[in-house]
Amino acid sequence: MTDTRDGCTVLGEIVADGLRAAFRAAFPDCGLDFASVRAAATQNPEFGDYQCNDCMTLARALKAAPRKIAAAVVGAGRFPECVDKAWVAGAGFINLKLKDDWLAAHVAGLAGDPRLGAPAAGTGKRIVMDYGGPNITKPLHIGHLRSPNIGSALDNMFRLLGYEVVSDSHLGDWGTQFGVTIMGYRHFGDKAAMEARPMEELERVYVRSYEKAKADPAWMDLCRRELVKLQAGDAANLALWKEFVELTRREVDRVYGRLGFRFDLVRGESFYHEMLQATVDRLVSEGIARESEGAIVAFLEEEKLPPAIVRKSDGGFNYATTDIATILHRVEEFDPEQIIYVHDERQQLHFRQVFAIARRLGVTAGLRHVWFGLMRLPEATFSTREGNVVRLEALLDEAERRALALVAASSRGFAEDAQREIARQVGIGAVKYADLSQNPQSLVTFTWEKALALEGNSGPYLQYARARIASVLDKHAERFPGRDPEAFPIVTSEAVERDLLVRLARFPETVAQAACGGKPSQLADYLYDLAQTYSTFYQNVPFLKSPDGIREARVRMCGITARVLERGLELLGIAAPKRL
Ligand code: ARG
Repeated sequence: MTDTRDGCTVLGEIVADGLRAAFRAAFPDCGLDFASVRAAATQNPEFGDYQCNDCMTLARALKAAPRKIAAAVVGAGRFPECVDKAWVAGAGFINLKLKDDWLAAHVAGLAGDPRLGAPAAGTGKRIVMDYGGPNITKPLHIGHLRSPNIGSALDNMFRLLGYEVVSDSHLGDWGTQFGVTIMGYRHFGDKAAMEARPMEELERVYVRSYEKAKADPAWMDLCRRELVKLQAGDAANLALWKEFVELTRREVDRVYGRLGFRFDLVRGESFYHEMLQATVDRLVSEGIARESEGAIVAFLEEEKLPPAIVRKSDGGFNYATTDIATILHRVEEFDPEQIIYVHDERQQLHFRQVFAIARRLGVTAGLRHVWFGLMRLPEATFSTREGNVVRLEALLDEAERRALALVAASSRGFAEDAQREIARQVGIGAVKYADLSQNPQSLVTFTWEKALALEGNSGPYLQYARARIASVLDKHAERFPGRDPEAFPIVTSEAVERDLLVRLARFPETVAQAACGGKPSQLADYLYDLAQTYSTFYQNVPFLKSPDGIREARVRMCGITARVLERGLELLGIAAPKRL
């Protein structure tokens, strides 16, 4: 690697380090270490490649106007070798432009690294990631997409950053729904239907029993009793439970398999059930929970949170009790630096309570809930809607069907099997990307027009961009055999080439920021911007017709762009077919 800072491949950090040194040189006796100084990537080259806006915040501590501070820092002339020039702008910004040859060498260094320069920030650290984990006995619907989708993208990024990740799909396989389903199955179950379409039948009996329970307290009571029996180990109920769990796990595995979601562990809530009483006992003995109206409750006034019931008055345990036991078990087994939960916004209070209780129990690992908003489909997304929920599989089927029409138009020369496989990658990729490209903390409205757009911020757009680059590389290899682009130095003679290099150099920091910020959308935005910059580059400079050397340098940049796009898509869990 060609870095000025030992081992650092994160461009923004290299620049920020240089800035900090310049601040210290300009203000040697002020007593500040300037550790908070940052370099923000600019979008507009008019402002340089990086910009520092800390002079505003430092004005008070340094008792000087921001512009004066900026001028002193620039005037100190202590920037590292990578900086071409620095200048003061606006109200007191410092703009920094990198040297072209340094940038070219830096990108060549990243390209030669199998990790594309991703910093190994997580080496020696372990993260447990909790995502997926649907409540079972119900088919997966579109609301089940975001948790495993966002979760597995973050999981991939953390792994690239060197963390050891243990992913766990915490299935809801022990909750109140089982009492309701057992009653429903015993009274309204249809054996033949159960054999032919088990998920539909399970859902049907669940819904019917649930509706009845809402209207009829006596039925509700019976459901509760079946649940208590199950949790106490009743053989008949356990056998039914096992059957329901196996059926739904098969469904979850199939749908997750289509989406490429894989877990290190699939431990449902049931895995912890024998630890619950001991957990409650510990909470009581440590004074964290106490008896209140027959229940056992943790009062969380200090944390300004509502109380959490950890044992109900009927002796049953809650979702929160299981999560507390789960944290204790994970800490014991994995000693993680962090446990990250990727689940929807409606669970914020639940996790705040659980984390507060875990803290009181002395858990020091980082506990973080990365939450996201709901995904919604406008009315017209499906012509036939069964009930009021759309099954996730129906969405995937439709995506593949629509993608096949696209692929059939663009890759006519392909055999039918190959077309179908590409359509699968394009269709599934389009659905995943439509979610991941949105800020997680916003409501996502899914439309086919946007998901499958060939122009615009979509999965297919990036897949096509990547495939088009592959064909440039092939053409070069065909026309100029024996001239390996990798053997030629990267040179930048045009502004668009420089724009492309700057973007390529930002891959490592983008991955680090997206992972740590819990926002795969940052990586998606980056890839879209990279693909657009590439397309400007490709349209504005000649490739095969340019002079020897320049041609190879350009083809080499194509190759690096292809690798970054491919790796970026892979992190998002999206296939990048070579030909489309
Ligand atoms: N079963 C939960 C649901 O469907 C998700 C699991 C969340 N993970 C956890 N450790 N509580 O909403």
